[in-house]
Amino acid sequence: MSQLLCSRLCVTSHSRPLSFYSLCRKTGDKWKLSRWYIPRNSHAHSSNPPPGNALQRIWSLTQRAIRHSPSRTSKSAGLKFILGPAVFSVSARLFCSVARCEADYNNNTPGEVITKDPVPEFKWHILWKFVRPQLFALVCAVVLAFGAAILNIQIPLMLGDLVNVVARYLRENTGSYVNEIKGPAMKLLGLYGIQGLLTTGYIILLSRVGERVAADMRKSLFASLLRQDVAFFDANKTGQLVNRLTADIQEFKSSFKLVISQGLRSITQTVGCFVSLYVISPKLTGLTVVVLPCLVGAGALIGSFLRKLSRLAQEQVAKATGVADEALGNVRTVKAFAMEERELQLYSNEVDKSCEMNENLGGGIAVFQGLSNVALNCIVLGTIFAGGTLISSNEMSPGDLMSFLVASQTVQRSLASISILFGQVVRGISSGARVFEYLSLQPTIPLSGGGRIPYHSLTGRVDFMNVSFSYPTRPGHEVLKKFSLSLPPCKTVAIVGESGGGKSTVASLLERFYDPTSGVVMLDGLDIRTLDLAWLRGQVIGFINQEPVLFGSSVMENIRFGKPDATDAEVISAAKQANAHRFISSFPDGYNTMVGERGVTLSGGQKQRIAIARALIKNPSILVLDEATSALDAESERVVQEALDRATRGRTVLIIAHRLSTIQGADLICVMSNGRIVEAGTHLELLSKGGLYSDLIRRQRAEGQK
Ligand SMILES: Nc1ncnc2c1ncn2[C@@H]1O[C@H](COP(=O)(O)OP(=O)(O)OP(=O)(O)O)[C@@H](O)[C@H]1O
Ligand SMILES: [Mg+2]
Repeated sequence: MSQLLCSRLCVTSHSRPLSFYSLCRKTGDKWKLSRWYIPRNSHAHSSNPPPGNALQRIWSLTQRAIRHSPSRTSKSAGLKFILGPAVFSVSARLFCSVARCEADYNNNTPGEVITKDPVPEFKWHILWKFVRPQLFALVCAVVLAFGAAILNIQIPLMLGDLVNVVARYLRENTGSYVNEIKGPAMKLLGLYGIQGLLTTGYIILLSRVGERVAADMRKSLFASLLRQDVAFFDANKTGQLVNRLTADIQEFKSSFKLVISQGLRSITQTVGCFVSLYVISPKLTGLTVVVLPCLVGAGALIGSFLRKLSRLAQEQVAKATGVADEALGNVRTVKAFAMEERELQLYSNEVDKSCEMNENLGGGIAVFQGLSNVALNCIVLGTIFAGGTLISSNEMSPGDLMSFLVASQTVQRSLASISILFGQVVRGISSGARVFEYLSLQPTIPLSGGGRIPYHSLTGRVDFMNVSFSYPTRPGHEVLKKFSLSLPPCKTVAIVGESGGGKSTVASLLERFYDPTSGVVMLDGLDIRTLDLAWLRGQVIGFINQEPVLFGSSVMENIRFGKPDATDAEVISAAKQANAHRFISSFPDGYNTMVGERGVTLSGGQKQRIAIARALIKNPSILVLDEATSALDAESERVVQEALDRATRGRTVLIIAHRLSTIQGADLICVMSNGRIVEAGTHLELLSKGGLYSDLIRRQRAEGQK
C-alpha cells in the first residue's frame, strides 16, 4: 500500500525518489492540479453516468476530461504532488461527477465553443511517416531505456546484499569490514554508473527523435494549412489553427517522449519489482495489497474536492487574463475613452477573486499534503514494524527488509508514472489527431496543376458567365445570382453598388478564392478551373485590397513579396510607378525601413501605395482594385489615384469603387444590386439614363457638399 501513496513523491525523478519534505515545498505546482484532474467541459456535467461497462466509462471519462482541459505548457508537472497511481486517479475521476454538477450551477464554465464536429481520428500511418526517418535512434533509445529499467530492478536486491554484509559484521564483528563490503559496494557502484549512462543515452536519443518528429510535423502542418482554400480560413479561427501548430504539437511531442521513456521503464520496473517484493516476502506484499483500497478511496475523495477547487480557481485566473487581454489588445480605444481606471478596477476585481480562490485551494492542498505525509510515514513505519517482526522470527533478513523498502519505492515511482502516462496517452492521441486532421486535409481548389497560357498570347479577357455563388460558410445565402460580365482586354471595367451587393465577391471569384456554385469564370475563353492557380495568382492577376496588409519586414521585402526574384532596381521602378518612391526615399532607412506589425508605422496612403507597388512588380495582365482609394483622404487619394491611373494602362482592370469620382473614366461601369448587374454603360450613358447610377452620383454629391 505504501507504494500507492508514496508514489506521488517520486514521479518527477526517474532514478531517485523525492523526500516528503521536498514534496511539501512543491506547492507552487498546485494550480496545475486542475489541468489534469478537472474536466472543463459541460459534456461532463451530467451526474447520470452513461451506460456501458466500467472500463469503457473510465476510458471515455478520461478522454473527455483531457480533450476539454486546457493545453498544458509544462509536461506532467501538475501531477507531481498528488495521487499517483492510475487506479487512484481513475477512481477520483469516477467520484467527481457531483462536483462537476455543482460547478456548473455556479455558471463558472468558461465559454468554450462546443463543436459538434466529429472527433478527429488518430492516424497511425501518418505518425509512422514522421517516425520512420528517426527509426534507428528510436530503437536505440528503447533498448537503452529497457536496459536502465532492468538495472533499476537489480538495485534494491543489491542494496539488500550490502545491508546483509553490514548486519553480519555488526552481529559477528569478525573479519575485515572493508574487504567484505568492497565487493557488493563496487558492484552497486558499477550498476549505478551503467544505469546513469543508459539513462543519459536514452534521454538524449529520445529528445532528438521527439524534436525532429515535432519539427517535421510543424513544417508539414504549416505547409498543409497554407495550401487550404480561403473557405477553410472562413470556417476556422486563426487562433485555433496556430494552436494546432504550437500547443498541440508540443503536447504530442511530450506524450510521445514520455510514453516511450517512462512507459517502457515503468511497466518493466513495476512487474520486475513486484516479483522481487513477492520473492522477498509474500507476507509483507500481501499486507500491502490489503491496505491499498482504503487509501485509494480516501485519496479519491479528497482529490475530487481539490479538483473542483482548482478548476474554479483556474477559470477565475482565465477570466482575469481575458480582461487584461482585451484591455491591452484594444489599448487605443481604452485610452481614447480615458478608461484606464475602469479597466484597472475590472482587472483588480477579477484578480482579487482568483487570489482568494487560489488561497483556498492552497489551504486544501496543504491539508491533503499534511494528511498524506502522515499516511506515508505511517506506512514506512508499518512496513519496518511488520518487517522487524518477521526479522525477529527469522523469516526475513535486515537486507531483505531494505530490499523490500527500496523495491516498494521503485514500484511507487513506476505506478505513479503509469498513472501519468494513462492521461498523457489520451492527451497525446487527442493532440496528434487534431494535428493529423489538418495534415491530411486536401484543399478543394488545388494550388498547382492545370494549364498556363503563354505570356505573349495572353490577352487578359475575362468573362463571368451565369455565375451563381453562395459562400460555403453560408450556403443558404446566394450572393451572386446568374451574374454575367465581360472584361475586354486592356479595358477598365468598374463595379459600383450598394454595400453587401456582392462586388468584392466578384473579385474573389476571379482570384479563385472560391469556385462558383454554378456558371463559369473564364480567362481568354478558358475556364479558370482548368488553369494553374499558382500561375494565375502569381503572374496574371494583381490584386489590391481596400485595407492592404503589409508584413512586418522592410519596405523592400514587402514590395518584393509580389515577385520574390525581383532585383532592387525592379523594386524601385515599381515603387516609382506606384508614386511611392518619394516618400520611401525620405525615410532615414529608405527601402530598408521596417514597416512594423502589419504596416502600423505607415499612413493609410503610404501602405496603399506600397501595396500597389507590390501588385505592379509582377507586371500583371489583369489588375483588380477593390476599393483601393476609399479609405484615403482627398490628398492621399489624389496621389494614389495618380499611381493607379498609371498602373492601369495596358491592362485589363476591374475596379470596385464606392467613390464614384474615381471611376468616371472607366470604359464600362456596372451597377450591382442583389447579386446582379442592373445597369451598365459609360459614365455619361448611365447619367443620361437617370437610373440607379445617377441616383448614386446625386447622393454622393449631396454628401460631399454637406
Ligand atoms: N467570407 C464570407 N463568408 C460568408 N459570407 C460572406 C463572406 N464575405 C462576404 N459575405 C457576404 O456576402 C455578401 C456580399 O459581400 P461582398 O463583400 O461581396 O459585398 P460588397 O458589395 O463588396 O460590399 P461592400 O461595398 O460593403 O464592400 C454580404 O452579404 C456578405 O455578408
Ligand atoms: Mg467589398
